[in-house]
Amino acid sequence: MKEIETPSDAALARLQEPVAGAPPTVAQTAYGRAIVVTSGKGGVGKTTTTANLGTALADAGKRVAVVDADVGLRNLDVVLGLENRVHKHLLDVIEKQCTMEEALVRDRVRRTLYLLPAAQNREKDDVPEAAMCSVIRALQTQFDFVLIDCPAGIEQGFRNAVAGAQEAIVVTTPEVSAVRDADRVIGLLPPNVPAKLIVNRVRPALVRKNTMMSVDDVNNILRLELIGVVPDEKEIIIATNRGTPVIDIEGSETGAAFRRIARRLLGETIEIPAFQERQGLFSRFMSTLGIARP
Ligand SMILES: Nc1ncnc2c1ncn2[C@@H]1O[C@H](COP(=O)(O)OP(=O)(O)OP(=O)(O)O)[C@@H](O)[C@H]1O
Ligand SMILES: [Mg+2]
Repeated sequence: MKEIETPSDAALARLQEPVAGAPPTVAQTAYGRAIVVTSGKGGVGKTTTTANLGTALADAGKRVAVVDADVGLRNLDVVLGLENRVHKHLLDVIEKQCTMEEALVRDRVRRTLYLLPAAQNREKDDVPEAAMCSVIRALQTQFDFVLIDCPAGIEQGFRNAVAGAQEAIVVTTPEVSAVRDADRVIGLLPPNVPAKLIVNRVRPALVRKNTMMSVDDVNNILRLELIGVVPDEKEIIIATNRGTPVIDIEGSETGAAFRRIARRLLGETIEIPAFQERQGLFSRFMSTLGIARP
């Protein structure tokens, strides 16, 4: 992988426009954490993870910027319910068509959460890696967390998303193809970018029947620090259709899992619970009679 270029002072100065409603203070001289959420394989939950962790971290009082690095597709705005408020995007900032302040979309509910949207009508190759580094670095001067939603694949879009990050979260599902792609991505991360693992869409009933890889099976291959296990749950679809993060859906196990991951990112030690499979009416009836399922 190409060595990451350090942005020039001039590039940084151009991008360090104050964010609306939250001018940087003298105390905000320390850099925030820039974390790329990546996977290799498409559709395993990167955008869902970025949106929910960003929201949960904002709930914890942190200033958070979520960056949609999936240039050409753009999804993060929809998952956050902000699509109607997107006017400018990442490439406008890079090409100096607007300031960072103009491109950032502030969440209506969480006032410390901001989205930097992706361009929909552009190509991933249009983003120079050095400029991406400058954007992320500028955001780091104003936010505690900068979460970068990486596109699928290992081409230019991946390289851009990783360029400005100092940490990575690798998301995989317990499927052989997803784990293999995650393994490839881990090998492509720069050596100075430590990675943590989220295993998403786990279905305990299938693991129990030995038809799905367990979290241990996955991590025996990937061997990363496990920061979270997220069950497969229909509430995510409901949440996405509403443009609400799943952490806001009451009783959602997935939402609770993302909140725990956010707390672990903040340094808390919280055990990863063993997820119970959801019981249907018949199973619940059998349980009350004391008859276990085969
Ligand atoms: N834990 C889960 N349970 C059920 N559905 C999920 C879960 N996580 C993600 N999904 C669903 O899987 C689909 C893909 O999720 P998402 O868009 O977050 O993946 P992605 O990795 O960002 O995809 P892409 O590579 O295309 O950017 C979405 O429809 C999402 O709602
Ligand atoms: Mg995505």
